[in-house]
Amino acid sequence: MIKNRILSGVQPTGNLHLGNYLGAIKNFVKLQRDYECYFMLADLHSITVFQDPKQLRENIIETAAVFLACGLDPKKNVIFCQSSVTGHSELAWIFNCVARIGWLNRMTQFKEKAGSNKEKASVGLYSYPTLMAADILLYKATHVPVGEDQKQHLELCRDIAMKFNNDFNCKDFFTLPEPIITKEVARIMSLKDGTKKMSKSDEAEASRINLTDSADDIVQKIKKAKTDNDLIPDTEFKLVDRPEARNLINIFSILNGSTIEKTLKELSGKNFSELKNKLSDVLIKEIVPIGKKIKEFKKDTEAIKRILKIGSEKANIESQKTIKEVHKIIGLSLS
Ligand code: TYM
Repeated sequence: MIKNRILSGVQPTGNLHLGNYLGAIKNFVKLQRDYECYFMLADLHSITVFQDPKQLRENIIETAAVFLACGLDPKKNVIFCQSSVTGHSELAWIFNCVARIGWLNRMTQFKEKAGSNKEKASVGLYSYPTLMAADILLYKATHVPVGEDQKQHLELCRDIAMKFNNDFNCKDFFTLPEPIITKEVARIMSLKDGTKKMSKSDEAEASRINLTDSADDIVQKIKKAKTDNDLIPDTEFKLVDRPEARNLINIFSILNGSTIEKTLKELSGKNFSELKNKLSDVLIKEIVPIGKKIKEFKKDTEAIKRILKIGSEKANIESQKTIKEVHKIIGLSLS
């Protein structure tokens, strides 16, 4: 029985932002101390919407550089590309035959991403969560650190694991993974609309802080971030109907190592320009050094490719154990 193994992934679609960092990657860095970790570039997930091949190759290198720049240690963790480990797509196919259409029909992310034009969405976008379940269960991960938007996919992953274990009478074969979702960072919102999550695909560049933004970009984006005309209140309750104000205060509190309550105590009655100045300062302190490191790591693409190759070799060995067992359990292996 594997104890405390983590798997998580990030799509290499460019524009990694503060939401990805606070919601996921910063947490990975902390968790690498205490868990056996598999961190994956989810390139097969990214092609569920069209990717320009040249751009995709660059984004894979860039996302690996982000992992390294944020502090993931390739000697301690298995860092790899999903597409270079064949077990992911093999197990995903098997899970396509375990998961029910009704389960997938309930996935809100598909509805959001496909929008009003579902007929034109790729089949991959629809069955995306079964691939994600395969990513996790292939390594029998016990914990999965993610942002709030992935919670429903994780629940589906647990449903698939349970149905597989039941259907094939192999109790406890697949571990039911636990999500690690930290409340404060689980949903970092857009700087332009506090009801929408910060997202790579938002056309408005000013809606997000990218990990490669310069100090000047950060100052400008925070200056233009939407707020309202009221002053900073003295209780969190008074932020309920002020999503943009709440988001900025939340981001500031996280980066300042504080809580919303303490920030409000310190700044209540002040106006937002004061908070924005302080927020720009803490963001610059945290993000600009990461951006510099990303640039440095990207200079040596060969080193990045080597890291990914070593990672995929380890991941292949581990994942093939599960694939072999699964083949035996479901009757695909004749020996
Ligand atoms: P992706 O690439 O969309 O996002 C990567 C991680 O960043 C988190 N995140 C956020 N957290 C807080 N606030 C936000 N605004 C925000 N935006 C993104 C996401 O929750 C995620 O943790 N399907 C996944 C990738 C994946 C995966 C996996 C994750 C593939 N297989 C297996 C875990 C386990 C995705 O598209 O993440």
